[in-house]
Amino acid sequence: MNMIIDVLTLFPDLIDQALAYSIPARAQKAGRIDIRAHQLRTWATDRHGTVDDTPYGGGPGMILRVDVAHAALGALDHGHKAHRIMLSPDGELFDQTMAADFAAKKRLILLCGRYEGFDARIEKYVDQKVSIGSFVLSGGELAALTIIDAVTRLIPGVLGNAESLKEETFEADLTEYPQFTRPEKYKGMTVPDVLLSGHHAEIQKWRDSQRRKLAS
Ligand code: ADE
Repeated sequence: MNMIIDVLTLFPDLIDQALAYSIPARAQKAGRIDIRAHQLRTWATDRHGTVDDTPYGGGPGMILRVDVAHAALGALDHGHKAHRIMLSPDGELFDQTMAADFAAKKRLILLCGRYEGFDARIEKYVDQKVSIGSFVLSGGELAALTIIDAVTRLIPGVLGNAESLKEETFEADLTEYPQFTRPEKYKGMTVPDVLLSGHHAEIQKWRDSQRRKLAS
């Protein structure tokens, strides 16, 4: 097993269902990665599975309890400490470099917030706070899924052909060139002649000239 990712969330089905498709599904079936979504309520201290409470000092919404989250994090360590990541809109901005850094780790824990957020004291128990962009989601789940997707495709052996990573990527130069497939002509729009020429050196030259940087 290459890697284990544990996700702590109030909506484990959301995680499981999204990962039943495409590359992450294939990577799991191939045993390259094991992604486990855990219900945060499992670590509630009362019979009702309460995980949140009203904020001290007043204000709207509910705050996720530090004791519940801390117990959950501790339970997932299994002796070997995982890299603990908390999803939060005020975290460090996620990018391809961070994805590669995560892909090199053996174990990750992704802690998803909901409602108004976590009790601020949880920061003592996580290694990193990560945001996927300057916008506010209703919860950390979609951010966790974004990270899982980007990380999974960097794990050796996950993409069918080792070349597809090198070619299209990203990691090295963060660029991509435009691609085309049939039909050769669509509503008056044609495919660049060079791509139909069979001239590999010329095609490579054209592609290099067309490389576009990823948004940053
Ligand atoms: N939770 C809510 N918004 C988020 C964001 N932009 N990134 C990560 N986690 C979040």
